[in-house]
Amino acid sequence: MGRLVVVSNRVALPDESRAGGLAIALLDSLREEGGLWFGWSGKIDPDASGRLHEQQDGNIRFVTMDLSAQDHEDYYNGFANRTLWPLLHFRMDLVDYNRETYEGYQCVNALFAGKLAPLLQPDDIVWIHDYHLIPLAKLLRERGVRCRMGFFLHVPMPSSDLLAALPSHQRLFEGLSSYDLVGFQTERDLERFQDYVRLFGRGRVLDRGVLEAPNGRRFHAGAFPIGIDTARIAELAADAVTKSGVERLAESMSGRALAIGVDRLDYSKGLPERFKGFANYLQRYPQQRGQLTFLQIAPVSRGDVTEYQQLREELERLAGHINGRYAEPDWTPVRYVNRNYPHATLTGFYRMARVGLVTPLRDGMNLVAKEYVAAQNPDDPGVLLISPFAGAARELDGALLVNPYDLDGAGDAIAQAMTMPVEERRERWKSMFDHLSTHDITYWRRSYLKALREADLAADGAG
Ligand code: G6P
Repeated sequence: MGRLVVVSNRVALPDESRAGGLAIALLDSLREEGGLWFGWSGKIDPDASGRLHEQQDGNIRFVTMDLSAQDHEDYYNGFANRTLWPLLHFRMDLVDYNRETYEGYQCVNALFAGKLAPLLQPDDIVWIHDYHLIPLAKLLRERGVRCRMGFFLHVPMPSSDLLAALPSHQRLFEGLSSYDLVGFQTERDLERFQDYVRLFGRGRVLDRGVLEAPNGRRFHAGAFPIGIDTARIAELAADAVTKSGVERLAESMSGRALAIGVDRLDYSKGLPERFKGFANYLQRYPQQRGQLTFLQIAPVSRGDVTEYQQLREELERLAGHINGRYAEPDWTPVRYVNRNYPHATLTGFYRMARVGLVTPLRDGMNLVAKEYVAAQNPDDPGVLLISPFAGAARELDGALLVNPYDLDGAGDAIAQAMTMPVEERRERWKSMFDHLSTHDITYWRRSYLKALREADLAADGAG
């Protein structure tokens, strides 16, 4: 069996603690399978893009590439994060399209292809991740690479009308149709993509998950909801209780309950709505005031992009406003922190929290929701509040559903979580934990890679 080669913009290098959900999930997969991980080094080279760095960690070989300031601006800040990110999260109002950044995106993908192609062996399985690298398979194939190649979209697939509003949508579709398998987080994402193929892509939806591009090329598409390393998170969380950061938080609570949110500082996460929902709870449930402290951890993300800077200011205002209105000399209702914490510490925070707040406006999956559940104490578990617009809501059926746009609904759900009897909490938690134990990260990786390895067989017979 060939080597696994993973390609993603963000790579979880061994000496860095900064990693989003995608990087952690891929690290878990590669640790088990072994192989090569190729991506951006996270560094900006003032002179030129393309310098490579190599390091080996256990069974993973990391090869990463620097980007020039201009390439980083056009590809990462520009087309990936000012155009594709808002579009894929249904935020047409925030989409900023221009041809220059689109060309920059294509150029960096071509650079990736140029550096990666010589490292590949014919029987490698190449697994490319997320919206930064959609054109990569096509560009690799143009360089003669013949490996099996799969793509996984970690973020949502928007409705076909939105995707079709993107000026370069046909070229993106051409990019996607060059893979052997395109994976989505949920069945809904897959359905929206099939709609696009039929209505705007001039392609065909055939049997058994096979699609046909206008040039006649057939490829597979399927839904593969990403999981977490459930057993390891449960273990980490149980051990974390004695860690100093976790102990300090516990002491500082003075016996009050904790509500927790952990999100990159991103407008897709519905943070202003969450803060307002918490304020709604404080206003409409005065008898519970002082019983619950809300800790929002929100590491700064993509700080060069204006919308992210504006969001940061808005949250500072909101946190100040809520605290000014409701705080007591010995109680601060909202603790708002922009720092990142090691994964092990976070799992301890999750376990301590009576309420887990995961209320994005749109999210491909949301692994915080899954980790919150995995980290709970089985005897006295907390309550997860989840937005129906997170992919994870489709699996986590023991959570309380909170529409982030319904502030009264959010306020009610927080109050309900606070008074929910322990038997009900255990029952809701158990069904979710059991699901996460069987549908973990290993299950995700194996089912995706199995479908990728088998992709050509089924494509031949589809009609
Ligand atoms: C999301 C995306 C990932 C990305 C991560 C962190 O999870 O799906 O592709 O790596 O956010 O964002 P950043 O821009 O810091 O890589």
